[in-house]
Amino acid sequence: MRIEISFAPVAGIVTEMLAVLAADTQTEKGRDAKPLPILLTADAAVQAAAAGVLQTGEYKGGANETVLLHAPAGIAAKRLLIVGLGKLGTATMHSVREAAGTAVRFAKPRGIREVTFALPSSALPFSEGLSGATVTRAAVEGAFVGDFDADTYRSERKDQSIQTFTLAVAGTLAVPGDAERAAVEAAFAEGAIIGESQNFARSLVNEPGNKLTPTILGQRAAAMAQEVGLGWEVHSTEKLHELKMGAFWSVSQGSPEPPALIVLRYEPEGVAEGPLLGLVGKGITFDTGGISIKPADNMEKMKYDMAGGAAMLGAMRAIALLKPKVRVIAVVCAAENMPSGTAQKPGDVQTAMSGKTIEIINTDAEGRLVLADGLTYARQLGATHLIDAATLTGAISVALGRATAGAFSNDDAAYGKFESALAISGEKFWRLPLGDAYAELIKSDIGDIKNTGGRWGGASIAAEFLHEFAEDTPWIHLDIAGTAWVEEKRPFIAKGPSGIGVRSTLEWVRSY
Ligand code: BES
Ligand code: MN
Ligand code: ZN
Repeated sequence: MRIEISFAPVAGIVTEMLAVLAADTQTEKGRDAKPLPILLTADAAVQAAAAGVLQTGEYKGGANETVLLHAPAGIAAKRLLIVGLGKLGTATMHSVREAAGTAVRFAKPRGIREVTFALPSSALPFSEGLSGATVTRAAVEGAFVGDFDADTYRSERKDQSIQTFTLAVAGTLAVPGDAERAAVEAAFAEGAIIGESQNFARSLVNEPGNKLTPTILGQRAAAMAQEVGLGWEVHSTEKLHELKMGAFWSVSQGSPEPPALIVLRYEPEGVAEGPLLGLVGKGITFDTGGISIKPADNMEKMKYDMAGGAAMLGAMRAIALLKPKVRVIAVVCAAENMPSGTAQKPGDVQTAMSGKTIEIINTDAEGRLVLADGLTYARQLGATHLIDAATLTGAISVALGRATAGAFSNDDAAYGKFESALAISGEKFWRLPLGDAYAELIKSDIGDIKNTGGRWGGASIAAEFLHEFAEDTPWIHLDIAGTAWVEEKRPFIAKGPSGIGVRSTLEWVRSY
C-alpha cells in the first residue's frame, strides 16, 4: 500500500472513494428528539453531498458504522463513504485508527484500489483535544492495519491490497501554518513505520509451522535487522549448551528442528548510559504440547505460539526506524515443542541458566521454560528493565476473554509507564496479580520449582514462574494468548493475527 498526504481541499480530490467521518449526536436526555449525526468536515460541498442520507436518520454515525454513496453530487470523488466515529466529543486516537481501518476494509473486497481518507475538522468538537498530528498518525496506522489480510497462500487472493491511501489533512490543521504542517508530516511518516511494523509481526504470526521453523524465524529477524540497521545474532543448540540454558533447550530437544536464540540490539549513538531495556519474546513456532500432547481440536492454531516473539521483533523494527534515545535489546527464544523419543518427559528435572532446577510436570507448559532462560540472558546482557510477551496460558482467556490481554509486573513505576503507553497504543491490557500465594503453588518436592501449579489462577501462576527469573529487575509480562489471533473479523481488522503488543511495547520503550 502506497500512502500519500494531501493538503488540498477535500471536495476537489479526484479519487475512487472519499471517506469522511461522522459523529453520533444522540444524548441520553434527547432520546426522543433523535438528533441527526453530523459530518466531521468543514467542507461545504462534502456536507451537501452527504446531507440527503444523513437526513433520513437511517445512519447514526456509530463507531465504524458505514454508508456508501455512489456518484456524489458536487465533489470530485467517484464514491463517498461515511464512517462513524461514535459519540460526538468522545473520539480517541484509537477510534480514529479504527475508522481508517474500516474505510480501507470497506474498499478492499469491492475492488476499490484507491482510498482518500479525510481527517476530522479541528473546528468541530469531535474529541477532547486530539491534535492534527495525533489523528494523522492514528489514521495512517489504522489504514495499514486494515490493509492486512491473512490469505497469503490462496492461489487467488480474495482481498487485494489497497494501492494508494491518501490522507486528506486540510481540515485538521488548526492553524494552517508551516509549523503544524511539519508536525503533521512527521506524524504521517511515524504512523507508516508503526503500522508496517505491526504488519511485519502479523505476517510472521500468520506463517504455518512448516513455513516458519525456529531457523527461518531467525533468518527473517536477521533480514529485518539488516534492513533497518539493528545489530543481530542468531544462535542455536551449541550456544544454548554453552550458556547452560537447560530450560530453553529442554523444549527444543524433542524436535529435529534446531532452536534459535535471536538477539537484536539497538544502540543509539551517544547513548552509552541510562536504562537498557530488554524485550523478551516467546517464539514457539509450533506447540503440540510435547509428550503432554494437546487434543487435535484447534491444535492448528498453535502455529501462532510465537506471537510474543513476533511482537518484540515488530517493536524492534519500529524502534530502529523511530530512533528513541534509549538502548534496547531483544531476546527471542524460538523452538518447536514436539513429542518424540528424544522429547523431555513429565518428571524430568531441568537446570535453568540461572541455576534454578525445574521439575517438569507438564511438557505443554513450555513457554515459561524458554522465557525463563530468555529473561536470565537479557539480564546477563545488562538489561535494567524487562518486558516479555507470550501466548503463555489458556487461563488468560478464561479470565479476560478475547478483548483484553493480561499484564503483570513486579514494579509499579515500570507498569505506570506501560499504562501511559496504552493510552497511545490503544491496545487493551489489564493488570493481574503476582504474589507469594502463587509462588507457593509451584514449589517442587524434588527441585526448586515445578512448571505448573494447578488450574486455578493459571495465568498468575505462569507469571509468578517467570518472576522467579526476572527476580527484582523491574519487569512487565504480557500474556497475549487470548488476543494474538482475531477469531472473528471486525470492520477494521481481518480475522487472523492481531499484532498485539507491538505498539504498546514501542510506546513503553519511547517513554524511557
Ligand atoms: N501455547 C499455550 C497457551 C495457549 C493456549 C496459547 C491457547 C494460545 C491459545 C501454552 O504453551 C500452553 O499450552 N499452556 C498450558 C499451560 C498448562 C499446561 C499449565 C495451558 O494454558 O493449558
Ligand atoms: Mn504449551
Ligand atoms: Zn505454548
